[in-house]
Amino acid sequence: MARPKVVITGGAGFIGSHVADALVGAADVVAIDHLKAGKRANLAKALKAGATLVKRDLLRGDLRPIFRRAEVVYHFAANPDVRLDRRGTKPTVDENIVATHRVLEACRVAEVPRIVFASTSTVYGEATVVPTPEDYSPLEPISVYGASKLAGEALLSAYAHTFGVQAFVFRLANVVGARSGHGVVVDFVRKLVRDPKRLEILGSDPGTAKSYVHVDDVVAGMLAGQRGASGPFSVYNVGSEDAITVRALADAICAELGLRRVEYAWTGGAGGGRGWAGDVRTMQLALDRLKRTGWRPRKSSEEAVRLAARDAFSSMNKPRDA
Ligand SMILES: NC(=O)c1ccc[n+]([C@@H]2O[C@H](COP(=O)([O-])OP(=O)(O)OC[C@H]3O[C@@H](n4cnc5c(N)ncnc54)[C@H](O)[C@@H]3O)[C@@H](O)[C@H]2O)c1
Repeated sequence: MARPKVVITGGAGFIGSHVADALVGAADVVAIDHLKAGKRANLAKALKAGATLVKRDLLRGDLRPIFRRAEVVYHFAANPDVRLDRRGTKPTVDENIVATHRVLEACRVAEVPRIVFASTSTVYGEATVVPTPEDYSPLEPISVYGASKLAGEALLSAYAHTFGVQAFVFRLANVVGARSGHGVVVDFVRKLVRDPKRLEILGSDPGTAKSYVHVDDVVAGMLAGQRGASGPFSVYNVGSEDAITVRALADAICAELGLRRVEYAWTGGAGGGRGWAGDVRTMQLALDRLKRTGWRPRKSSEEAVRLAARDAFSSMNKPRDA
């Protein structure tokens, strides 16, 4: 029997490359990435096992040939940063909304039957119900990133109901693990390698309280969620069973790196413990829907953070007492 073709946009990025590793044994995996954030090295294992990498910007040119004969498209390419940089809002809108529309159009013409979308907990904004279930409303994002992902979800819903593609949306908590190039764990490890005595932390003590999920639990959850649904449009939360404050996260990372008496220098941030405008104060997702498929997160927030810190540290390849 022919192996199914699976396309992963953003496949050379953090989560995309882990999905490539999980699928390459049973499918012809094609990763598309412009390699501005992603790296060929992230895909080393999958490429060795037969995956291919196409260097392309999803915002340019005709995408249809890439998606032809694909059984599933995992759409992960995005600007994943919640915090805006000095370029303002346009990169987020382009990379997350315009690119998603271009991918959906190409998939529609290429008659791709199934699309999986990496969405985010930030679509819930400052939810008043925590842990937050998928049917929580109103969906009122407080960041442009959250808004752009909610727009992506809405486009997927419309394409599912209008054109018959089966769509799966996974709203992810903070994902951590090997090969992550952004986020608080990588940021703290990088800073601690530079200065093991002092850690600058955005926000005010003890910071926000959020759920951190290991990338292995995310990949398993995405596969379980697809097996567990038959309707045109399905939405699942993916997270861990708890939340930890930024202080607890910093303590866990310092302990994992064998550092003691590190001075925490809180910047003050944007009020209420937030690191910046658009940062939610509390985030933990209700997991009942995905758990009904038999999936369970195997790691707590702290376990996931510790493992991710270890991986980030060893990838920076510095001695422990540096
Ligand atoms: N990491 C998290 O904590 C988290 C949480 C919630 C949702 N998500 C979502 O999961 C997805 C993957 O995130 P990640 O953490 O792996 O980020 P990442 O930056 O490691 O991966 C994204 C990849 O997309 C590529 N890319 C971006 N724009 C592109 C374009 N126009 N054309 C081609 N390639 C492009 C980048 O080069 C990168 O390799 C994103 O959609 C993100 O919004 C991530």
